[in-house]
Amino acid sequence: MDQLNNDPAVHGILVQLPLPGHLNEDLIINSIAPEKDVDGFHISNVGLLGTGQKSMVPCTPLGCLMMLRDHHGSISGMNAVVIGRSNIVGKPMAQLLLNDSATVTIAHSRTKDLPGVVKQADIVVAAVGRPEMVPGDWIKEGATVIDVGINRIDAPEKGEGKTRLVGDVHFESAAKVAGAITPVPGGVGPMTIACLLANTVTACCRANGLEEPEGLTA
Ligand SMILES: NC(=O)c1ccc[n+]([C@@H]2O[C@H](COP(=O)([O-])OP(=O)(O)OC[C@H]3O[C@@H](n4cnc5c(N)ncnc54)[C@H](OP(=O)(O)O)[C@@H]3O)[C@@H](O)[C@H]2O)c1
Repeated sequence: MDQLNNDPAVHGILVQLPLPGHLNEDLIINSIAPEKDVDGFHISNVGLLGTGQKSMVPCTPLGCLMMLRDHHGSISGMNAVVIGRSNIVGKPMAQLLLNDSATVTIAHSRTKDLPGVVKQADIVVAAVGRPEMVPGDWIKEGATVIDVGINRIDAPEKGEGKTRLVGDVHFESAAKVAGAITPVPGGVGPMTIACLLANTVTACCRANGLEEPEGLTA
């Protein structure tokens, strides 16, 4: 890691997770130079994001934020419900929404009356990892739904042993009530990859004292 951290020709470092069990994930992530941490998982970047300072922002939540800003312009004052509290999606997503002045609720497996909580939301971000868990009748009329989930399920209709990808939201029923909804596949996934490249450009600009292109980060 030291070799990559010290190499000026390397602008971004990403550790593909999950790691094998005998390796200490935190130790390895925190050995990346924070300014090259294009996943935004280093404890320094988590702290900077949490205090509203310039940081490297985790790619998946950054992509979700970009779509929300693009669609709404401002999300200030909107009620946002994030379902899921993981360090890589749920928590940074909530932080970004809060930094943009949304009123944020984080729901998780112990949340009481999840359908009722989701029904209050102008913005729903589902990051659970349970296929089609959120049905359309949980969604408020006109709400914006961002489906982060990627779940592979059996698809016998496509032939024996075939599978297909679905999100955490039941797309057909939710699309009938939502004002806008991201599909799976083809929604958050491609934005995540684009944001990884955006973060790498940001890291390169910062390392070389160049002006950062507008709109690439939070
Ligand atoms: N599109 C992309 O680029 C991208 C990137 C990253 C992840 N993903 C996908 O996003 C999903 C979530 O990923 P993750 O890494 O955040 O997953 P994770 O670490 O497993 O976290 C899942 C979260 O969902 C909550 N949860 C589980 N069951 C629930 C229930 N019945 N009701 C309410 N909350 C519940 C958990 O609550 P507790 O904390 O209480 O257990 C946990 O906070 C997965 O499908 C993953 O594949 C997609």
